[in-house]
Amino acid sequence: MSVIVPLNIMAQDAIELLLDAAFGPDRHGRTAYLIRDGMPWLPQLSFGIEDEEGKLVGSLQSWPVALTHQDGSQTPLVMVGPVAVAPALQGTGHGRAMMDAVVTAARAQRSDPLMMIGDPEYYGRFWGFSAEGTGDWDCPGPFEPRRLLALSVDGRPVGGKGMLTPRLTVQA
Ligand SMILES: CC(C)(COP(=O)(O)OP(=O)(O)OC[C@H]1O[C@@H](n2cnc3c(N)ncnc32)[C@H](O)[C@@H]1OP(=O)(O)O)[C@@H](O)C(=O)NCCC(=O)NCCS
Repeated sequence: MSVIVPLNIMAQDAIELLLDAAFGPDRHGRTAYLIRDGMPWLPQLSFGIEDEEGKLVGSLQSWPVALTHQDGSQTPLVMVGPVAVAPALQGTGHGRAMMDAVVTAARAQRSDPLMMIGDPEYYGRFWGFSAEGTGDWDCPGPFEPRRLLALSVDGRPVGGKGMLTPRLTVQA
């Protein structure tokens, strides 16, 4: 049986190989990578799925990012993704298991609001991510506004105007 594990027990090489398999090796130019450029992923909000043989077959990373306003101030956010499942196992619940884990952990930690670039048909349907509060958000690369999604985990409203960027100050 596969089990969900904290991602930081897995080798970084295994994570990169899985991401190449799910997204292709040219994935690094994507807008999501520019938003979190240079940031370390957050171990307390990143999960993997390990199969019976100890192989990594699912990976979800979260990153410290921010909405940077015109005056330079930042509203901290947690960027979720990439969410990746080994191609042969897609559609068998692994993506949902990892997303359940990160949303549950974020709620327990009362983390900053979650955001992602993803399909609202998936992330809205199961976890309530929405583009409602992101209409005045901009990205450092091309994006489809309907796929720029956010989710508050503690009732604080999500909104504001600015550019999504790496976070200037990251708390340990
Ligand atoms: C997208 C991904 C993470 C979903 O994980 P998964 O384990 O394959 O999917 P799950 O088994 O958890 O969920 C299956 C359900 O979600 C739906 N679903 C999956 N991906 C979807 C999408 N992109 N849009 C809409 N619905 C989607 C399926 O139709 C299925 O619905 P059903 O239960 O009604 O049949 C995975 O398929 C993947 O790694 N894809 C390639 C990389 C990618 O695009 N990642 C997402 C961008 S960050």
